[in-house]
Amino acid sequence: MKAIVLAGGAGSRLYPLTQVSSKQLQAVFDKPMIYYPLTVLIASGVREFCLIATPHDLPRYQNLLGDGNQWGVAIQYREQPRPEGIAQAFLIAADFVGSDDVILMLGDNIFSGGDDFPRAVSSFTGGATIFAYHVKDPERYGVVEFDRNGKAISIEEKPQHPKSNYAVPGVYVYDNSVLAIAKAVKPSIRGELEITDINLEYLRLGKLQVRRLSRGFAWLDAGTSTALHEASSYIEAIERRQGVKIGCPEEAALVRGFLGIAQFETLIGRMPACEYSDYLRGVADEWHRLQEDKQ
Ligand code: TTP
Repeated sequence: MKAIVLAGGAGSRLYPLTQVSSKQLQAVFDKPMIYYPLTVLIASGVREFCLIATPHDLPRYQNLLGDGNQWGVAIQYREQPRPEGIAQAFLIAADFVGSDDVILMLGDNIFSGGDDFPRAVSSFTGGATIFAYHVKDPERYGVVEFDRNGKAISIEEKPQHPKSNYAVPGVYVYDNSVLAIAKAVKPSIRGELEITDINLEYLRLGKLQVRRLSRGFAWLDAGTSTALHEASSYIEAIERRQGVKIGCPEEAALVRGFLGIAQFETLIGRMPACEYSDYLRGVADEWHRLQEDKQ
């Protein structure tokens, strides 16, 4: 399974912050926003990534993330000159996807809790798997309607009168036929290639699975200054309470076995003295303790 991380867009609702840097590079508490989706994907076992951003911002992502080798993954980069829709990602990254299955994840989606995504990836056998999350304001999202048996029967993009409170978060798992489906999608009235149109095609083919995310699961939005602040506060509160980090790709790479402990410790050695490297040192110490316990 490969992954596309879509980190373009105008970020107009975050103006003037987005005059300084792209939305997905803004800080969510103690790390750049893009770390959160990348960590979810690494924790799901993905090793091959394609990051899409605007031509203006792409070099900054390349500076931050490099070729991914430091985390035991491979990251390629592609440009999206204009925000012409989420589904355009499959046209831009078609050569990267090749003949594989692919997850598309939006670079500004922050999740915390549960193992829903790793489980969905490991049990994926074809078609499409998307998720549904209960929200108060579904009209801002793609909205799924379920029948009595819990089967998805419709999806509407930003409906004025939503048929349910279940919004579709920005994580979509597709088999390789998504490339052909995306090619056939026509721009919507707002001029975008809509991801909902891809999901509707899978629904029409009877190949769409919609998994409801559990109540304890947090899906945070960071699209406005207030939402960004709230997301930071939420992450700070959980991290302080639990003493574990959310959205820490180095840790996820160690847990997944993408990095050995020696590589992990070398990586920490290259970091300045700070809370983040202190935390990772604690993770390494814990790793050694567990090894001793096993012996
Ligand atoms: P949005 O939040 O819909 O758009 P935006 O980020 O440009 O923000 P604003 O409405 O404030 O201008 O986009 C959701 C995510 O998808 C976000 O991570 C940006 C990304 N995106 C792209 O990368 N390319 C696109 O063409 C679109 C439509 C979105």
